[in-house]
Amino acid sequence: MKPGEHMKPDRAHPEKRLHPEKPVHPGNRVNALDIRGLRLRLPGTARPVLDGIDLTVGPGETVALVGESGSGKSLTSRSALGLLPSGATAEGSVLVDGEDVLTMGPDRLRALRTGRAAMIFQDPRAAINPLRRVGDFLTESVRRTGAMGREDADRRAAELLDAVGLGPELLRRHPGQLSGGMLQRVMIAAALMGDPVLLLADEPTTALDVTSQAEVIALLGRLRERFGTGLLFVTHDLGLAAAISDRVYVMYAGRIAETGPAAALFERPRHPYTAALLAATPGLDPGSGRLAAIDGQPPDLRQASAGCAFADRCRYATSRCREQAPEPRGEHPVACHHPLEGSRADA
Ligand SMILES: Nc1ncnc2c1ncn2[C@@H]1O[C@H](COP(=O)(O)OP(=O)(O)O)[C@@H](O)[C@H]1O
Ligand code: SF4
Ligand SMILES: [Mg+2]
Repeated sequence: MKPGEHMKPDRAHPEKRLHPEKPVHPGNRVNALDIRGLRLRLPGTARPVLDGIDLTVGPGETVALVGESGSGKSLTSRSALGLLPSGATAEGSVLVDGEDVLTMGPDRLRALRTGRAAMIFQDPRAAINPLRRVGDFLTESVRRTGAMGREDADRRAAELLDAVGLGPELLRRHPGQLSGGMLQRVMIAAALMGDPVLLLADEPTTALDVTSQAEVIALLGRLRERFGTGLLFVTHDLGLAAAISDRVYVMYAGRIAETGPAAALFERPRHPYTAALLAATPGLDPGSGRLAAIDGQPPDLRQASAGCAFADRCRYATSRCREQAPEPRGEHPVACHHPLEGSRADA
């Protein structure tokens, strides 16, 4: 056996991963997601809606992407499935498990979306056909692609329901008979059917009550240990980001403002926007951290601006900030001409 080989999940026989003797650890596989210089332009806008995004999710890593509504979180995560708005033009690369999604044809994209990458959406009820039984919903994509026969697919569906804490009797139920929390667990089981290396979760607990929220977060943590899946967790809730992630990307107006390990970033934010978000967050308890009020509005996509997009809302803005857009710098990159240090970060 080559070094590290025992650590690889068995992709040819995904069912073997359901009962590993110990958690699957990723070893030295390529990144689950590697976004480089992603620039997305939409018709009728004066500046790119995503403007040079660099973001990685290592194998088995949990990464949070946080920011106010409209900052570009969903566009970024959807790009990993090649889901771009109509009329959008993209530059850069979006590698999933080492392959560029932006250059894939329709067949490869379809295979990607039923295999290596899967998304859990905010509202499970909107993502499931109410007339189909849960069992058919879980098995339809792997059966359609021919990845599994009926028997294997049914067995795997039952095993995955068990992994998300639900019984096999649910296979015969309809979505209307399940609570929102149960349905989101079904969506997570469905996302795992294709044995993904990358799970994208776009505000997956926003539509749930607080108890179901906590259960789904705990479940995602356990599944990540068990299946070694990389997770990009999109949220506007700093408390959730702190609770679930290894690393955090803070996004503002289509750019990454700051990146770093979750604990360091929340204890000592360096970008004034991160600091303002934290100041507007009443404690970091999951569920309590809605990005409430920071004064002012993000810039309008129809107006081009040369300088830092946060300048109009930033108490540290200088003339340089208004003239020149800051590029990310440093070990934990921060895109700011005057990053906060020490006591200023605590202010
Ligand atoms: N399909 C689309 N067509 C045009 N504009 C869009 C589309 N999707 C998103 N946008 C715009 O792109 C920006 C970022 O959107 P989004 O990624 O959904 O933000 P977030 O998920 O952070 O709330 C917003 O200004 C939004 O209005
Ligand atoms: S570059 Fe200037 S305006 Fe932008 S966040 Fe930093 S200090 Fe504020
Ligand atoms: Mg969104």
